Amino acid sequence: MTMSKNSIAVLGAGGWGLAISNLLCGKGYNVRLWEFDPDATRELNETRVLPKKLPGVRLAEPVFVTDKIAEAVADAFVVAFAVPSQTMRPVAQKFASLKLTQFPMLVNLAKGIEVDTLKRMSEVLEEAIPEESRRGVATISGPSHAEEVARNIPTAVVAASKEIGIAREIQEIFMTPRFRVYTSADILGVELAGSLKNIIALAAGMLDGLEMGDNTRGALLTRGLAEIARIGKNLGADPMTFSGLSGIGDLVTTCLSKHSRNRFVGEQIGRGRKLKTILSHMTMVAEGVDTTKSGLALSQRQGVEMPITAEVHKVLFENKAPIEAIDDLMVRGPKPERWY
Ligand SMILES: NC(=O)c1ccc[n+]([C@@H]2O[C@H](COP(=O)([O-])OP(=O)(O)OC[C@H]3O[C@@H](n4cnc5c(N)ncnc54)[C@H](O)[C@@H]3O)[C@@H](O)[C@H]2O)c1
Repeated sequence: MTMSKNSIAVLGAGGWGLAISNLLCGKGYNVRLWEFDPDATRELNETRVLPKKLPGVRLAEPVFVTDKIAEAVADAFVVAFAVPSQTMRPVAQKFASLKLTQFPMLVNLAKGIEVDTLKRMSEVLEEAIPEESRRGVATISGPSHAEEVARNIPTAVVAASKEIGIAREIQEIFMTPRFRVYTSADILGVELAGSLKNIIALAAGMLDGLEMGDNTRGALLTRGLAEIARIGKNLGADPMTFSGLSGIGDLVTTCLSKHSRNRFVGEQIGRGRKLKTILSHMTMVAEGVDTTKSGLALSQRQGVEMPITAEVHKVLFENKAPIEAIDDLMVRGPKPERWY
């Protein structure tokens, strides 16, 4: 089959995959949505809704849904990956094994860092899918809850790629009057910002669960951004990226939003529930839990201080009480505000 400039494959029918499928379908693209779970595929084909993933939102009728990845990507000129970050590599490998004759642009929609390798999602895609099988890799990130995008609530995001021409093409494809897309050549900074803010969202939830004040929240967001920017700069990102949509924009949204699963998990922990119990009741991924492992490992590997990340790790995985974590952060040695 030859490539059609009208066909886009979306991989993963979670909340984000569904919202993006509707957005692209609304722009007139022929959208083919792949879902690995046959039961969810059937449910979606029969009812056009997945209430556990995106309640109250119908998948647009023209979107073709399949559990066969080859059917979804067959003639796609863009393939958008909307699966959780820890499953990105096997999904990319599945895609790579298809031996397509066309070379689609790849767009990562996930926010996370692979725990085993500390690789960002675009790096995972580049490693798993040979260069000759693709035409550029981009990441879309920013404050964009699926629940709101699906309801056409004004949203702004950034499309980042090492190749600015690819970022511009992706901008044009995804942009609508209600979904404004900016471009960036700093994919490293954009991916780090979008992933690491979920750690701070867990901490923000803990503050909510403990019923701390607004001062504490303001301090957390600001110092959270400082440590994200510190590791980002150390790894070669443009520090200004962290003042952008994928940085402060997504951080504020996620830390304050009722939609954020990471903030929700943190809130439950702040109220004294155990991580395992909380996660066992969730039907959607809370990326921040794994990203806390990756974030701490990155900070240790790079020798860069990330005190909030280290404390969130202790609370999640070492049974430390959140209130003790806050106390320990407050009595660290005196510091200048400048982190750079
Ligand atoms: N939901 C949002 O508002 C939103 C917005 C922006 C970015 N994101 C990011 O998009 C990614 C997906 O989030 P989501 O909210 O859609 O998650 P979700 O939990 O709602 O859905 C994840 C999807 O991946 C599929 N999946 C799970 N394991 C898989 C596997 N092993 N192989 C293939 N597919 C598998 C699930 O069946 C489901 O279709 C995350 O990285 C998230 O941070 C989400």
